[in-house]
Amino acid sequence: MSHPEFSLSSDLIYLNHAAVAPWPRRTQDAVMRFAEENARFGAAHYPQWQETERRLRRHFQALLNAPSPDDIALVKNTSEALSFVAYGLDWQAGDNVVTSNEEFPSNRIPWESLRAREVTLRQADLSRASNPEEALFSLVDRRTRLLTVSSVQYASGRRMDLKRIGEFCRQNGTLFCVDAIQSLGALRADVQAWQADFVMADGHKWLLGPEGIGVFYTTPTARDRLHLTQYGWHMVEHAGDYDRPDWEIARSARRFECGSPNQLGIHALEASLSLLLEIGMESVEQQVLAGAEYLIERIQGDDELMLLTPPDRHAGIITFRPPSGDLESLFRHLRQEGIVCAMRGGGIRFSPHFYNTLEELDRALATVKQGPPPG
Ligand SMILES: Cc1ncc(COP(=O)(O)O)c(C=O)c1O
Repeated sequence: MSHPEFSLSSDLIYLNHAAVAPWPRRTQDAVMRFAEENARFGAAHYPQWQETERRLRRHFQALLNAPSPDDIALVKNTSEALSFVAYGLDWQAGDNVVTSNEEFPSNRIPWESLRAREVTLRQADLSRASNPEEALFSLVDRRTRLLTVSSVQYASGRRMDLKRIGEFCRQNGTLFCVDAIQSLGALRADVQAWQADFVMADGHKWLLGPEGIGVFYTTPTARDRLHLTQYGWHMVEHAGDYDRPDWEIARSARRFECGSPNQLGIHALEASLSLLLEIGMESVEQQVLAGAEYLIERIQGDDELMLLTPPDRHAGIITFRPPSGDLESLFRHLRQEGIVCAMRGGGIRFSPHFYNTLEELDRALATVKQGPPPG
């Protein structure tokens, strides 16, 4: 049975929340209302828009368990936030950054680009490690300024023990950065328990929002360590006081928002997050994990399928493949049959959200088993 909050086409089974999610009805409604309002009233009700913006910051504060909404910046995407960190820190030649070899390019390229400043990127091989956190720790030395990792790896689906990594970083005086896009909205998050300095995510995956609006969390101390790379009217303490000749950088994380906010994205994402918070992240997490565990059980119990995701360390992403056969034609077959999924990390990646039913997962797996037609 379809979920009342989603109006997905009935010929689709949507298992691609690790890529781009469909919008809930309330997000669709919020965007339509906002379009209507812009057409009829322009920005005459701007103070109400700002109220929606404040609500979105509070939603993010709740989702992340951040101490204050002042720690939340609304940014374009994960890559932008990672670049704020990469180009904000005061690097010395010979410094290094530690990460894993399973990161999405957003969490690799900004660090690799620091090569010109003689900063090196060290990548721990997680696929071979019996203990992925230890593999990261073994690369940290006294020149490691920052450890950066995805909360959940986009291809393998491997879930990292962020609390353990945060503890290690704190003890070693290493900054800790988390690309949380593959878990925020699927699992509970707690930036304080993680002892993270920087956390970022975009809205279009597990958060069920649009592309082009995301979150960048910083602690007050960590954000003071970042030189700013963008300036404008909006990132100053007295934004809106346009006649004022002097200015100072905003104390809050608004300092990372240089100009006019993405109000359309804000209205959409506020609606999406309100759904997750209304259901409650504990319940969302439980349902996401139940779906993933169901897939794991079915895949492990099937001789013709090979699980690629570590079963003891998964979140919402489950990647698998048939031991033989052409993966691309299987993927094409799944798309043709309306199973929306992805091909990642040498396998088929399913990423169901809380509202996907076990029956949908059965149908998707039956389509895998059926395989592409011969020829
Ligand atoms: C781990 C991870 N980080 C970042 C991104 C995307 O980054 P951005 O928000 O900059 O588009 C993805 C998208 O697949 C991802 O899986």
